[in-house]
Amino acid sequence: MNTDVEKRIEETNQRYLSRLIGKEIPQKLEKQLEEMDWSYLNLIHEKKQERGSFAPLAAVELPEIEDRKEEYRKVGLAAIRKGKVGAILLAGGQGTRLGFDKAKGMFNIGVHKNLYIFEQLIANLMEVKREAGVWIPLYIMTSEKNDKQTRAFFLEHDYFGYCPDYIRFFVQEMVPAVDFEGNVLMEAEDSLAMSPNGNGGWFKSMLRAGLDADLKEKGVEWLNVFAVDNVLQRIADPVFVGATILSGNVSGSKVVRKVSPHEKVGAMCLENGKPSIVEYYELTPEMAEATDEKGTLLYGFGVILNYLFRVDCLLELSGSRLPLHIVEKKVPYLDENGALQKPEEPNAYKFETLILDMIYMMDNCLAFEVEREREFAPIKNAVGTDSVETARELLVKNAVAI
Ligand code: UTP
Repeated sequence: MNTDVEKRIEETNQRYLSRLIGKEIPQKLEKQLEEMDWSYLNLIHEKKQERGSFAPLAAVELPEIEDRKEEYRKVGLAAIRKGKVGAILLAGGQGTRLGFDKAKGMFNIGVHKNLYIFEQLIANLMEVKREAGVWIPLYIMTSEKNDKQTRAFFLEHDYFGYCPDYIRFFVQEMVPAVDFEGNVLMEAEDSLAMSPNGNGGWFKSMLRAGLDADLKEKGVEWLNVFAVDNVLQRIADPVFVGATILSGNVSGSKVVRKVSPHEKVGAMCLENGKPSIVEYYELTPEMAEATDEKGTLLYGFGVILNYLFRVDCLLELSGSRLPLHIVEKKVPYLDENGALQKPEEPNAYKFETLILDMIYMMDNCLAFEVEREREFAPIKNAVGTDSVETARELLVKNAVAI
């Protein structure tokens, strides 16, 4: 094994890796250890990042959008027709809550017919393609865990009718998980326990894949980033694009009215005067319940992971670091003797950056209200809230045959 790596293992007193010192190890593992960012280990002892001072952020609301819809649509469609708008599908997550062992987009939500999540998202994008009369460049982020199967799935299904020349895949980075004391975990003799590094690294991963050249060649100026799990997702929505352009903001975020003050969604706000997203658990009860004189919640607009970013701003900010979030997880690992342990309780930390933190990096952001029942059907769980069942109901309500 590489002596630098051996030194690191000794210095940080690694419980599960020290048995490898002085041994020949598989190439894959050696590469992972060489590429590992050891500075992560110190982060677990650091205190949570302090947040700034929050203030409400007004949104452009449904009645105003209804009044100006055609004006917005015209501007949005013109930008799309000039090839200025691209879409980014974030599909690198592990979807552990759903409990499906393949990429989440391969999940079949159909009842009387097959209807895969990826298929429904492409159908949504096709509506804009038909309206604009041009293909919208679509970039799909996968992870090392699901990249091959995702590409094969699209190929096998003929890209669900989308033009493959306008689809590009790129792979996000992985980071090793550590136990609560900072010991790096191995999942097998030839691999550390790696997991995707969160959805905040999407633009860096795009750059790493050399896709900035593709954006430049196509003249893409705006990127609409969205999650794989919302089957009612409107993608490259001309009205949203037009409203953001006309507002003069450098980013936009679709929001829905929260169903209750304590709903578990991140809310759009200002933080130290900049656009930001405050997590539900960061709101004090007073803030969560605060209303204006009309009784409307001040932190009442929840984000649905559908953002618009100006590419030049993304490029400018691509060197800055996003805060790292540390999440507790159950991670199977090889113990000191190399025996596989499958924990029943969370035993490890996973490190992630989140796309919602990118909003705070932007100078401004248009919060754009959309109708929840028409645009928000997330599939997070198998049953219960935000599940396959609730998404099916919402699809039917929106006249989608399932
Ligand atoms: P979630 O926050 O729901 O995470 O992702 P997840 O990993 O898919 O699901 P759970 O928590 O394990 O059940 C929101 C969006 O961000 C993408 C997901 O694919 C989804 O579109 N994502 C998440 C990534 O692309 N990469 C990641 O590392 C994490």
